[in-house]
Amino acid sequence: MLNMLPGLPAPPRRRALSLAALLALTSLVLGSSSLAQQVNQTVSILDTSSGYNREMNVLVFWALAFAVIIFIGVSAALFYTVQKFREDKNDAAPAQFHGNNRLEVTLVAVPVVIVIFLALLTVRAMARLNPTPAGAYPVNAVAAQFYWNFEYPNLKVNPAAGNGLVTNGNEIIVPTQTKIAMTATARDVIHGFWAPNLGGQRDAIPGVKKTWQIDTDKAGVYQGNCTLLCGASHANMRFKVIALPKADYDQFASAAQAYKAPAAAAGTPAAAGYAIFMQGKGGSGACAACHRIQGTAAAGQAGPDLSFFGSRRTLGAGAWEGADVDTHLHQWIKASSSIKPGSLMPHYDGSTPNYPTLTDQDLTDLEAYLKTLQLPAEGNYWTKIAALVPGAPVPAAQSPTPSSVNATTSASTAMNGGN
Ligand code: CUA
Repeated sequence: MLNMLPGLPAPPRRRALSLAALLALTSLVLGSSSLAQQVNQTVSILDTSSGYNREMNVLVFWALAFAVIIFIGVSAALFYTVQKFREDKNDAAPAQFHGNNRLEVTLVAVPVVIVIFLALLTVRAMARLNPTPAGAYPVNAVAAQFYWNFEYPNLKVNPAAGNGLVTNGNEIIVPTQTKIAMTATARDVIHGFWAPNLGGQRDAIPGVKKTWQIDTDKAGVYQGNCTLLCGASHANMRFKVIALPKADYDQFASAAQAYKAPAAAAGTPAAAGYAIFMQGKGGSGACAACHRIQGTAAAGQAGPDLSFFGSRRTLGAGAWEGADVDTHLHQWIKASSSIKPGSLMPHYDGSTPNYPTLTDQDLTDLEAYLKTLQLPAEGNYWTKIAALVPGAPVPAAQSPTPSSVNATTSASTAMNGGN
């Protein structure tokens, strides 16, 4: 049903996923080292760019190998027996082997050895993956209906740009070849954090902080989703992981720490939008009450952080990307739940009590202001990934026209890492 809403991406296709998983498994079994493309990647736990997933793949390989051997062995014995002891060839009662100690011991011992072997492999993987290494790079994922905020405990905002931590909504930037200590929690109900190509899934539970490790060796864009049913837009609670090589990540990090939202020039639409953002209209409905923008007085915590909104490529927690963001931004601010079911942002069309009605001009001004919230070029992670990885999604500011985006994404967006 969600699929029928205008502009929402198609849901994942199971068949494509299984086929991709099968292909990935095949290349895994064949020892291929280049499983996943960085960008048009399928969502796969078999992505060997992640050390976490490599551990899992060893377990999957051995469990599947035993399963296949046993399946073939049992099938062969069955067919042999059926053929050899057909009733029309054997009139006499069949010989019994009850009490054959050697056979019975073998039939018990072999499965026990297999189970012990798999258990040892599992314990070894657990010892390697838990606990998260002390030097791992920390990132906090805070889940809420229906978006993610990602905080960087190691990135304190420079004093000149304000206080607090660097935070971004729905798009995480991580360094490659680095263990990331993800810590998940939630503000309202239970959500689930999972970026399958990067490693394990964890529940995000209110009042609980869970830390585990994810990592990837390959720069690229990876799709993440909420994995626990958390309400009407559970399926529209997505995020992107943008993995940058260390040097590029460091550039992003210092630009983000120094970032101060640009002041809009007086008399421009952006300045009018800024005024609405900070004060609302007619004394109510200030966006700043719920959203934070680094370097301004806006410090709201109830909604996603908008500090880098103009550099982001997604809207509505990944419900729209690229040029589709421009198509839907107006209606999104005006009445978000009309295009994303269950969205908790108040409506600004007069239908939410005590909230102002914003005119089309007000909305356009707000959009103009939000678009100015851009990281400097050296910190723009989408520009970086587009330069590094052929075929990566283009940065928001360079998005193609809606028609060309629709032509290329409608068939393939669902599971391909969201470009
Ligand atoms: Cu959040 Cu499902």
